Order: sequence, then C-alpha cells, then structure tokens
Amino acid sequence: MEPASIFAQIQQFANRADPYSLYAELRRTPVARQEDGSYVVSTYEEIVALLHDPRVSSDRRNLADAPPSEGLPPSFITTDPPEHDRLRRLAMRHFGPPHSPRKVESLRGELLEIVTGLIDGIADRTEADIVDDVAYPFPVTVICRLLGVPVEDEPRFHQWADEIVETLGPGEDDREERLKRREATVVTLGQYLGELAEDHRKNPGDDLLSGLVTDDGPDGSMSHLEVISTAALLLIAGHETTVNLITNGMLTLLRNPWLIERLRQEPDLIIHTVEELLRYEPPVHFLSQRVALDDITIADVTIPKGSPIVLALASGSRDPAHLRDPDRFDPDRPYIQHLGFGGGVHHCFGAPLARLEAQIALRELAHRLVNPRLVTDPPPYRPSSTLRGPRHLLIAYDRVL
Ligand code: HEM
Repeated sequence: MEPASIFAQIQQFANRADPYSLYAELRRTPVARQEDGSYVVSTYEEIVALLHDPRVSSDRRNLADAPPSEGLPPSFITTDPPEHDRLRRLAMRHFGPPHSPRKVESLRGELLEIVTGLIDGIADRTEADIVDDVAYPFPVTVICRLLGVPVEDEPRFHQWADEIVETLGPGEDDREERLKRREATVVTLGQYLGELAEDHRKNPGDDLLSGLVTDDGPDGSMSHLEVISTAALLLIAGHETTVNLITNGMLTLLRNPWLIERLRQEPDLIIHTVEELLRYEPPVHFLSQRVALDDITIADVTIPKGSPIVLALASGSRDPAHLRDPDRFDPDRPYIQHLGFGGGVHHCFGAPLARLEAQIALRELAHRLVNPRLVTDPPPYRPSSTLRGPRHLLIAYDRVL
C-alpha cells in the first residue's frame, strides 16, 4: 500500500479507536509525500529535527496557496520568531498565577477542590460519563478562572471551541468549506472576547485577561486584537486538550486494572503514569500547520520550499527506533521521552498546568472509585484525528469513597 493512502486511512473515522497499527505502516516511509503536495513526517528523530529547524515555519501565511484570513490576527502558536517570542513572553508574564512550574504548584489545592467536587457529584450513582462528569468540566473551570472568563458563559463558547478544533488539521471533508466555517466561528468568539477584554480594562481583576489589557512591561503591550487572539488560543487549548489526556488516561487505567491497584499503593506513580500517557495515548496526534521556508532535505527526501508539513507526533512517540517495546504501556520506563507537548519554540505553554490537572484527576479517580469498569470498549470517539479522544467514556462502579 502507498504511504499516501495510509495517511488518508488514518483520517477515516473508522480508524479512530486504533490508529497505531497504521502509524507503524506510515513509519516505513519517514517522510512521505501526499497527493496534495504535503509531507507527512512520522519518525521520532526526523520530527524532533523539524520541530527545532528555523526553516520550518508555523505561520500559514507562508504557504504557497495561503488562504486569505478575515478573522483575527494569528495567535502565537501560528507565528514565527521574533513575533512569536514577543507575544509568548507577554502572555507568559500574566499566565498568573501559574506562569512557572513552581507557581502552577500553588494551584494544587484549588485544583483538588474542583476535582473533589466533581467526583462527589457522581457519588449518588453507580454509572458515570468520565468526559461529561469530570474530564471536561475540570480543565474548563480552571482555564475560565485563570483567564477571567465567567464560567456561566461556558455553554456559549463550548460549542465555538469544539467547532474550531474539529476544523483543525487534515480531515475527510472539503478543506475550503472547513476553513470558512472555522473563520466564521473565530469571528464570533473574537467578538465575545473583545467585549470581555473591554470590561476587564475598565475593571481589572487578578486574572490573565486583565493582565494582558493593562500590561505596560519591557515588551510594550499587546494590541486589542492580539489580546483577543491570545485569549482565544488559551481558552481553546484549555478546553480541548487536557480533557483528552484525562479521558485517554482513565481508559488506559481501566484496560489495565493492575495500574489502578498500583496507583492506590504508590500515589507518586501518577507522575510517570501521566508522562507515559502523553507518549502512549497523547491528546495531540498531528501538527499540521507547518510550512517549509526553504528546500529541506531530511531522511533522503527533499521537501520543496512552500510545502505544507505534517508532524505525526503520536507516531513519533511510538517509534521503535527511539524506544523499546513502544506499544506497551509502561510507567516504569527509566526514561520517558515523548512528543506529547511538541518541542522547540512552540513547546506547549500550558504543559505544567496540564500535567498537574491530569495527575490530580487520575489519582483521585483511581483512589475513590470502588471496582470501576468500562461499560463500552472501545468508547465512541470525537471526530478529530488531530485532537483525538473519546466523546464519552461510560463507566460503572460499586460506590465512591
Ligand atoms: C502548544 C499539547 C494543554 C496552551 C502546544 C503544542 C502541543 C500542545 C503539542 C505544540 C503546538 C505547535 O508546536 O504548533 C498540549 C497537550 C495538552 C495541552 C497535550 C494537555 C494535555 C494546554 C493548556 C494550555 C495550553 C492547558 C493553556 C492553558 C498552549 C499554547 C501553545 C501550546 C498557548 C502554543 C505555544 C507556542 O506557540 O509558543 N500544546 N497542550 N496547552 N499549548 Fe498546549
């Protein structure tokens, strides 16, 4: 089978529950040209090289056939240095309080309180949906609080966030149509955040949005539109990624009951468990926004200037040339290296927060649910092959401690 058709198969919804055997086929051609002229890179070493290569741009405006953008200016995830660095630094100053791993640590008590409340909420039943009852509301509540977005408004932008990510990355439907839908939703979300930013300018609080609109530090300040793009980026990232890490994590725990038992005996094992999950069942499978700024030769293939590049992170993290027995979930690996948070200048901004959220949620679920089991395996998946995770995860249990 030609590599191009393997990548197309990965996009098919029928393969959402297990794309990993297809990734193994994909890796036979580490840099594979697709029919549409894009290049899919699927091996660990090559992905790492391109993540750190300044000739690889994250700015879609560099595409040979760049689509016109009528919405917001690009956020820092889709810009290159030096613009990227200025915006990321400005946001980092205010990702308050958690703009460093140590400060994220100070949120521990608040995070545990939110998770405890959510698990208490399923204590009067013996069945729950891990997604709707815990894994979605938890990170959403956290990102809303950090940003200064009223959590009561959540149902309004929940749908917008879903729409924006469902239209991300390669898909089975018409690309033009998807881009148009995405653009319209971005405009609606932008209007909402624009009004909110104005409110925070008049009445600043102790939150990220207030920090962004009132900042006047060494890097100057963000323009009104840059604030909106940044807030939208953080809101979407906070909505659409950690939910999958917690849900994929619970699925993996329930498929490996020995792990739940060990977590009860050794609570600190949760740190390596979450790291191994980011390798084995990561929330982000592809980065598909990259563009070659020059001819780039890698693994004996020359990617011509202007070509779109897709980095298959989830495949790279299971590359047998990089680690032994990659298809086995093993939190005892001495050295867990993965591409779950990307790498290079765009390495995930929210990684310390996402790690802590997943550690607390999974540790509490493992400790408090008595005799938990899966109701359906495999669970129903969300449409996206890029941000991959179950839409629902129905579980049964005897009681909650
Ligand atoms: C970037 C994964 C949670 C904010 C990234 C990238 C990945 C990633 C793979 C690299 C994107 C690229 O190179 O184009 C994840 C995963 C998460 C998670 C797996 C959860 C388990 C979060 C959270 C936030 C966040 C909770 C915000 C609070 C960001 C931002 C960037 C980013 C702002 C762009 C960084 C830049 O361009 O410099 N994330 N993320 N992420 N992430 Fe996360």
